[in-house]
Amino acid sequence: MEKQIVKVGLMGFGTVGTGVVRIISAHQEDLQKQTGLGIEIKKVLVQDAEKARNIRAMENKLTTDPAELLEDAEIDVIVEVIGGISPAKEYILGALERGKHVVTANKDLMALHGAEILNKAQEKGCDVFYEASVAGGIPILRALVEGFSSDRITKMMGIVNGTTNYILTKMSQEGADYAEVLKEAQALGYAEADPTSDVEGFDAARKMAILATLGFRVPMKLEDVDVKGISAVGREDIAYGKQLGYEVKLLGLARRDGEAVEVSVQPTMVPKSHPLASVNGVFNAVYVHGEAVGETMFYGPGAGEMPTATAVVSDLVTVVKNMKMGVNGRGMVAPYKEKILKDDSQKLSKYFLRIVVADKRGVLAKITQMLADKNISLEQVIQQPYNNGSQAEIIMITHLSSKSDMNSVIADMEEMEIITEVKSCYRVEGGDQQ
Ligand code: NAP
Ligand code: HSE
Repeated sequence: MEKQIVKVGLMGFGTVGTGVVRIISAHQEDLQKQTGLGIEIKKVLVQDAEKARNIRAMENKLTTDPAELLEDAEIDVIVEVIGGISPAKEYILGALERGKHVVTANKDLMALHGAEILNKAQEKGCDVFYEASVAGGIPILRALVEGFSSDRITKMMGIVNGTTNYILTKMSQEGADYAEVLKEAQALGYAEADPTSDVEGFDAARKMAILATLGFRVPMKLEDVDVKGISAVGREDIAYGKQLGYEVKLLGLARRDGEAVEVSVQPTMVPKSHPLASVNGVFNAVYVHGEAVGETMFYGPGAGEMPTATAVVSDLVTVVKNMKMGVNGRGMVAPYKEKILKDDSQKLSKYFLRIVVADKRGVLAKITQMLADKNISLEQVIQQPYNNGSQAEIIMITHLSSKSDMNSVIADMEEMEIITEVKSCYRVEGGDQQ
């Protein structure tokens, strides 16, 4: 007899798992109309079955034994929203081994072990979808794989971490204190269990590795991504940025020139006129430039219970539709291009520099000469008194420079007697020539 109901094993009943339960129960009729099959959560794996929950559904379905989901032949799909590497990886591979399809929101796992998981899925003819792993509620992975399948993507810029965007927005708009806003983001369920992953840029780096792999069709690894977080971003950087017409964003950048690619995540000055500069709070956005299509941008909530759960349940709908049509295991195309990484001399950008100098005649001239010796010219400069006027602070925006030239300038500046301190250096992206 043909199957009428697809049974799902839900692993994890925290922020995202709770949203998944709410959406499946509230949209049951719509989901059935779209897929032609009912969707029922049969079992829910948690760590602590006695824990008080803010949702009463599923009370008699909770278990702490993964075998109750993995060994249940009636369960066709495992939805993994536990997070972390282990035991999530073992559970997913175990599910695939038994011919069960998988939906996951786990970017840590997909960025580090995606190739192994996708190979196992292919071997077993199973689906693995992970839309929720990047940019929460924005269907960006499907857009890259399907919507841009005819084009060649040259550049992606992403605000892909909601927690840091929430913090930077509050610092910029309200002058808020970094540590306090981080606590707020944690209370709202945006931050990772260990928020170091958010603020030091690792969460965004995992998402950028996934985006670059799918967008450039190149097998990018996490270690290929240059990462710097926001913990050292000061209110002064934000204020000077604003004065010069920029907002500071933790920006993921994936750029391809010819066949060579670069991927980075770092605090970046974005011109206020660029649409990414207006992406505020927990919102995420991914700007995609394709050779044929030109500029596009995807915008939406990047974290939180319901936005993330919509992406998970949409993946589940795709799995169920595939089951109905008998086409599971053909979803994601494996990266097929050779990975050629740029070296630092090929990574071009404008830079924002803030330095403290001795307030003496001729200092600015010496600094501009030293930059000129490295082929770096200046687009904007401001000078302010510093430390009651005994020193000066110079804030500069350069024209395009290579990362290697900029690194060498900073090393030289740190040795110069007239320079007391190099306070900060950020990439500037999203302007006219970029
Ligand atoms: P969470 O609130 O911490 O929930 C984790 C759930 O997994 C809890 O129900 C916990 O059980 C269960 N769990 C943890 N370890 C387990 C283990 N060893 N065995 C069985 N169950 C275990 O996490 P979340 O925020 O929902 O995140 C889930 C996943 O979604 C992560 O991969 C995260 O990166 C990703 N994600 C989250 C968001 C977001 O906005 N939160 C957005 C996009 C992607 P108990 O309830 O018993 O403690
Ligand atoms: N901690 C992540 C963020 C959750 O803040 O974006 C969504 O992946």
